This record gives sequence, C-alpha cells and structure tokens, in this order.
Amino acid sequence: MRQIMVINAKGGSGKTTIATNLASYFATQNKKVTIIDYDPQGSSLAWLEARSPAKPPIQGIAGFKRNAERPKRNTDIVIMDAPAAVHGGELSKLVRKAKTILIPVLPSPIDMRAAASFIKELKACAPVSQKKAKLALIANRSRDITNIFWELEDFLSGQRLPYLTMLRDSQNYVRAAERGLGIYEMGPAATAVDRDQWDPIIKWVKSKRSQP
Ligand SMILES: Nc1ncnc2c1ncn2[C@@H]1O[C@H](COP(=O)(O)OP(=O)(O)O)[C@@H](O)[C@H]1O
Ligand SMILES: [Mg+2]
Repeated sequence: MRQIMVINAKGGSGKTTIATNLASYFATQNKKVTIIDYDPQGSSLAWLEARSPAKPPIQGIAGFKRNAERPKRNTDIVIMDAPAAVHGGELSKLVRKAKTILIPVLPSPIDMRAAASFIKELKACAPVSQKKAKLALIANRSRDITNIFWELEDFLSGQRLPYLTMLRDSQNYVRAAERGLGIYEMGPAATAVDRDQWDPIIKWVKSKRSQP
C-alpha cells in the first residue's frame, strides 16, 4: 500500500486539488484508492460526494475525526489531504503516516516565505530527517510568463528537494472539482496541457525515488 500525503501549512496552496487529482488518476488506472481527509473542512470528502457512482470508486475517510475508519484491506494507494497550519508535534505525528510527501507552493511572496519555513520544519521532522519519507515540490497555479513564477522556480530549485513540475492556473481544475473528477477524467484535448504538466508527478510517485 502506497501512502502519499499532500501538505503545506498554508491554506489555498492546492493540497486538495493535487490530492483529488492524484486519487482520480490512480482510480482511472484500476487501482483501489482511498483518500484520507485530515482537514476538518472536509474538502476532499465533499469532492467525493460530488463524484458520480458511475466513475471508478474512491474510498473516503474523515481522518480528522476520532476513531476514523481504516483503509480497506485491498487498498493500493492511500492519498492523504492535510489541513493548513499544522506545526510542531502535530506535524511530526501527521507526517509519520506518509512515505511520500508532495508540497504545492503558489507563486506569491507570502506563500514562498511561508513555504521556506515550512519546508525547513518538515525536513527537521523525525520521519523526514530519518529518511523514512521522501519529499517533492510542485509549483501550483503558475503562469510561466510572470516574474513571480521565475522567482518561485528559483526558490523551489534551491530547496535541495526534487522540484517536479509547474501546474498552470486552469479552470479545468475548478470544473473537475465541481464534479468530483480529476483532469484525467475530463476531455483529453481540453486537458492535454495539464496532463503534460502532471507527467513528472505521476512518474515520480510511481518511481522508487519517491519511496524511502
Ligand atoms: N492549478 C490551479 N488552477 C486553478 N485553480 C486552482 C489550482 N489549484 C488550486 N486551485 C483553486 O484554488 C483554491 C484552493 O485550492 P485547494 O486545492 O483547495 O487548496 P488547499 O487544499 O491547499 O487549501 C480552490 O478553489 C481550487 O479550485
Ligand atoms: Mg484543502
């Protein structure tokens, strides 16, 4: 069973968007997928509720509740959607659940500054410092013609972690989210650019490099 977490202390960075799209990708690959939503806002669970029963099923677990259920026995992939503003002991406890960790960062000075200290904190967390979990970075909601995007690329490239890809700001994510889908379940032509941008994420997550 793979355990993949999407985390960033900052709200709105794209954790739920990446968690749900990753879940939808693996569901389209006939994998048994579970999403554990650790955010009491429950955005991933709301996404699942909007999902048509005709689509490949994904199990949803309210990880923020006490006595949350466990992933089904035959689950292939567990995707964990983390809440914002987790720090300290709470962060270590959460991160211990994952072997593979994706960190989306937005192209904004505030987000980059917050990400710098969050990444530092994450690297110092026992599971990560003991190499029991692998981290990678994603630039989210970017436009590559902007100065701030280049600053974000510089920043992410300088973190001594794999910087996987840039995901553009696209209404495809918004439309997919409304319907409980991912870009891999939308029209291939309309989402071709997004799928290309996702390629490095899929490759990394499937590779040994993302596993301790
Ligand atoms: N690449 C993107 N393009 C367009 N909208 C995006 C993108 N990534 C996230 N969003 C939107 O930004 C908002 C915050 O994203 P979300 O994934 O909920 O962040 P988080 O879970 O980190 O709080 C949502 O409305 C989402 O649809
Ligand atoms: Mg969220």
